[in-house]
Amino acid sequence: MTEVATMPVMSAPQPPVLPLAAERGLRHCAQIADCSPDLLERLFLRARAHQEALDRRQVVPTLSGLLAINCFLEPSTRTRVSFEAAEQRLGMRTITIGAADSSMAKGESGEDTRRTLESYAPDVIVVRSKEDRLPQGWASRSRCSIINGGDGTTEHPTQALYDRYTIEEAFGDHRDRNILFVGDILHSRVVGSHVALAAMLGTRVFCAGPAEWTDVAAKFRAYPGVIEVVELDAFLPHADVVNPLRVQFERGAGESISLTEYCAGWQINEARLRRAKPSAIVMHPAPVNRDVEISGGVVDSPRSWIQRQGGNGQAVRMAILEWCLGIDL
Ligand code: NCD
Repeated sequence: MTEVATMPVMSAPQPPVLPLAAERGLRHCAQIADCSPDLLERLFLRARAHQEALDRRQVVPTLSGLLAINCFLEPSTRTRVSFEAAEQRLGMRTITIGAADSSMAKGESGEDTRRTLESYAPDVIVVRSKEDRLPQGWASRSRCSIINGGDGTTEHPTQALYDRYTIEEAFGDHRDRNILFVGDILHSRVVGSHVALAAMLGTRVFCAGPAEWTDVAAKFRAYPGVIEVVELDAFLPHADVVNPLRVQFERGAGESISLTEYCAGWQINEARLRRAKPSAIVMHPAPVNRDVEISGGVVDSPRSWIQRQGGNGQAVRMAILEWCLGIDL
């Protein structure tokens, strides 16, 4: 009989594990709860400085050489491009992938996708997902900074932050303004972050729309009294910001309500805006469905801040990236 050499008992070697993001001095912007009122002020000041530097074409590349991975698991123009632009302006190297060109199209799970992306040691991953709370989950386990570029119908924190920045820019002060969201509130992650932001600041937001889309008690149960459902035409004279929302057909909105009925009752058009204060501005996170939730004429009118709002995304995201990557603003 051959003798089997007796080997000392050894456990299998384990691969090295990178420290968690917080241990590396990195922060997340996965939800509004990651911010504070004091941070908001500093972010906006920094964003204003970036805006001026962009106008002069003199941006300082404060994040030079760091790596950003933008993982967009849902379509996006503004969020994806403005993040990539913000990263490149700050000197970062960037890689951007979408759902169709990632291995998720072959069935790889979101969690395995995160682990794979993290194995290349990026400094930040910006992620957009169909799935509710996916970025928040990633942030709790991640070794790099996680920024939420919009998750399901839950949150879109960076959008709400630059919306607030745009409102302050439009009115030239920090006073609280009445923001009225109109339409598909139920499916809107943008409203999700605005409600969380209002709760953090001790303010309120208002919404109007068909009963099916404004039945928001369950969605906002964590924020009692922060969002108030109002009657559109009656509230318009009190609104400072009129913010129609895209009807989210891809999430099943529009199946139970006829578009003709919707446009008659809730479309933001020239006739309806005559009820608003002369100083009221129009915003929209975009993309817009022209002549559905908003008339083309209003989109292109002088009181529309939609284009400026979208452009502000770049400077505000530059400030958010810096804060997440450990720069004290
Ligand atoms: C929004 C989104 O994706 O949540 N768009 C955006 O990021 N600017 C709103 C929408 O899709 O309607």
